[in-house]
Amino acid sequence: METFESRWERYRGLVEEGLEHFLPSEDEYPQSLYSAMRYAVFTGGKRLRPVLTLATAEAFGSDPKLLLPQAVAIELIHTFTLVHDDLPDIDDDDFRRGKPTVHKVFGNAIAILTGDALFALAFKVALAGSLSDSLKVRLLREINNALCYRGVIEGQVADIESLSKEPTYEDMLFIHTHKTGKLIEASVVIGAIGAGAKEEEVADMRRYAKNIGLAFQIMDDILDAVGDESKVGKRLRKDFNKASAVRILGLEGARREMNRLVDEAIGTVDRVLGKRGAFLKSMAEFIRSRTY
Ligand code: IPE
Ligand code: IPE
Ligand code: MG
Ligand code: MG
Ligand code: MG
Repeated sequence: METFESRWERYRGLVEEGLEHFLPSEDEYPQSLYSAMRYAVFTGGKRLRPVLTLATAEAFGSDPKLLLPQAVAIELIHTFTLVHDDLPDIDDDDFRRGKPTVHKVFGNAIAILTGDALFALAFKVALAGSLSDSLKVRLLREINNALCYRGVIEGQVADIESLSKEPTYEDMLFIHTHKTGKLIEASVVIGAIGAGAKEEEVADMRRYAKNIGLAFQIMDDILDAVGDESKVGKRLRKDFNKASAVRILGLEGARREMNRLVDEAIGTVDRVLGKRGAFLKSMAEFIRSRTY
């Protein structure tokens, strides 16, 4: 029988193949750019977002392979946000996924352009594959809505600006639901829409995704506060001067809020998908207990 871990590995295998298929070879000109893109993408990473897309599609009865280009596009966008997030003028991080960050290896200019290239490539990839053009456009609109206006980019801006003020709970909520929640939301929702889920089911899955998205970023803050750097693979104890959930709610308060969100997410999936939602429920449990 397929376990949670083996099923994650099955989806992950598809994602790795998809990424390999769509990323240019580093033998091509300009090699610096393609080497940096491949370095950014192939340095580990949980592939949580594309796995969510494929798992949601399968839960609604689709062959997950049909959604692979769109799932790969989401991972490319996620990687672009990480490369830019680590830049000296944003979070100034030198370590990501257990390795030096892209700008540390390739320099700031190439890192900026690598982010741009991953972002642009994602939109080409999202239009590939055998879904109908109208469905692809619908999914692309959903992905684009996650970025700007009222998406990841606004969350990142509010995140940086939280440095120069005493952030409130509302600030934290805006930042976390946008910088992290939006892309996780899109990952799940495109899986549901792509598999032909009904409108009410899509709305329910959006609620599930919003809950796990916020829970995921609260856990990121918890790991920042009390995690193990060698497991997390990035520098920790960096967010106390920002709108960290731990700073605003305290460690126990942050855990309580995260548990509430995870419980609610599990309840939603249970109601909508029953047994077919087993993996998505385990995914919510994973978010609650993750150490990396
Ligand atoms: C890190 O995301 C950035 C956040 C939104 C907290 P992940 O924890 O999913 O990073 P990778 O892709 O597994 O490295
Ligand atoms: C990441 O937030 C959000 C995006 C990259 C869009 P963080 O800045 O907390 O993520 P990490 O901790 O660097 O992975
Ligand atoms: Mg950041
Ligand atoms: Mg960061
Ligand atoms: Mg963080």
